[in-house]
Amino acid sequence: MRNRFLLAFAALFLVAQFIRPARTAEPVDPARDLIALTSPSAEVEQLLRTACYDCHSGQPRYPWYAALTPVNWWLQHHIDEGREHFDASSWGSYAADDRAHVADEAIEMIKKEEMPLTEYTWTHGDARLSMDQRVALTGYFSGLAGGGSEQDD
Ligand code: HEC
Repeated sequence: MRNRFLLAFAALFLVAQFIRPARTAEPVDPARDLIALTSPSAEVEQLLRTACYDCHSGQPRYPWYAALTPVNWWLQHHIDEGREHFDASSWGSYAADDRAHVADEAIEMIKKEEMPLTEYTWTHGDARLSMDQRVALTGYFSGLAGGGSEQDD
């Protein structure tokens, strides 16, 4: 009985492997990319790429396990939803108001340690931000918020 259950589960898992979400892989557009447009310091650029770009850009780096259904659906959902709120690859087409708003949200998320998502840091140790790294990132985003954005919460 137990064996039959395991076999059925294995069969389902194998069949499920054919059901995959479309992956995000867009060329970098220097006229729209956040890093290209704002030329952050090397440190901040590195932080953005390792801690934010996997969910907030058109160039996520997919880990090997992202090939597995259902993990892939879960990851793709994070990317799609993350980009809906903040898409670093569309920075150039955001209106000034939207930029200021996103930058303010980013500062808040980073300060409250809500970004990068905790689940992400389980497998991406280099995205576990130190206090200094959080300060570097929020400093960068407050420059983008266009001044007067330092209000807490
Ligand atoms: C593992 C994926 C992932 C990573 C990595 C990640 N985010 Fe997010 N982010 C999301 C998702 C999903 C949402 C939308 C849902 C939510 O707010 O939780 C989001 C929302 C946001 C928002 C919008 C919040 C709002 O309320 O409007 C901002 C700003 C943001 N993230 C900034 C960042 C920054 C900055 C980094 C890097 C330090 C980062 N995120 C890293 C997935 C991620």
